[in-house]
Amino acid sequence: MKNILVTGGLGYIGSHTVLELIARGYEVFVIDNLSNSHIDTLDRIEKISGKRPAFFEFDLCDKDRVDKFFSQNQIDSVIHFAASKAVGESMQVPLKYYRNNLLPLMNILEAMIAYNVDRIVFSSSCTVYGQPDKLPVDEKAPVQKAESPYGNTKQISEEMIADTVRASESMKAISLRYFNPIGAHESALIGELPIGTPNCLVPYVTQTAIGVREQLTIHGDDYDTPDGTCIRDYLHIVDLAEAHINAIEYMHDGGNKDRIGYFNLGTGRGYSVQEVVDEFEKVTEQKLNYKIGPRREGDVEEVYADPSLAEKELKWKAKRGLGEMLKSAWEWEKNYRKN
Ligand code: UFG
Repeated sequence: MKNILVTGGLGYIGSHTVLELIARGYEVFVIDNLSNSHIDTLDRIEKISGKRPAFFEFDLCDKDRVDKFFSQNQIDSVIHFAASKAVGESMQVPLKYYRNNLLPLMNILEAMIAYNVDRIVFSSSCTVYGQPDKLPVDEKAPVQKAESPYGNTKQISEEMIADTVRASESMKAISLRYFNPIGAHESALIGELPIGTPNCLVPYVTQTAIGVREQLTIHGDDYDTPDGTCIRDYLHIVDLAEAHINAIEYMHDGGNKDRIGYFNLGTGRGYSVQEVVDEFEKVTEQKLNYKIGPRREGDVEEVYADPSLAEKELKWKAKRGLGEMLKSAWEWEKNYRKN
């Protein structure tokens, strides 16, 4: 069970997961096409862990290449991260998202069947719930019509995996529905580094504080929340990474009897955008230049997880608090800009 393929293993969540896998003694194989990641992350992983994962640079849309990889490497389980993830861009170029997010999964599932690899962890998102009727949201909440092609690809991927599991006698799968991962590894050597202007809140905050961006805009303060700004469930990237190893081990130990599982990964606690900004200023002692702007299209008002199923089944619980998350993001930003 020791050989794990991590697709998108040089990306933000992928690289932190690779480190956790190495720390727990797994052999890691990374496939990444570097479309939204950096090759020097491989050196940084080696620097932190003392081990360099086997690295394969190619595009998972290439079916022949995927088959060749599986024919040449003995893989026990797959953790599939590789995907495009900018919600706004997915509205403008939807077919890029359908191609990049669905074709690789199809190629991987077909190769898994052909080469008898029967465990996969899929990187899904709380976006599948839209604006839930009930908070905190648990896994029984209905999947709502996606607001964006990006969100739709997550829903279709979950269905594609479920259908494949159903049709197979041995395949097992877990979809992890992430809330809002932020922060960075404690070494400050890897972290979130979006190419171009960040969409997500925390990289925008840290880049503003360091002077790469002039000003943060808070997207709307007229929501029906205590301070008027949107509420999300932010969780530390290292906590999130750890959950993937728990999921692999859970499947290996015969945990998911139905052979298909869905788990929310969050802290269970929501924070508003304003609270995130205030906490950032407090823990880093930085003054942040920000203004209130209009609402951002497609944002849900408030969402936070009921993570109790992951705690019960996967024995996983987010441990790190908001201050620690923001401090680690800031340390990473400072360290990165120093070079
Ligand atoms: N926000 C701002 N200003 C910014 C950026 C964000 O006020 O410059 C606000 C947003 O309006 C939102 C909150 O901060 O209220 C969090 O926004 P993010 O963009 O960080 O994250 P989202 O909750 O929008 O998450 C979305 C999708 C996820 C997806 C994620 C990363 O719902 O499925 O983006 O791509 F994974």
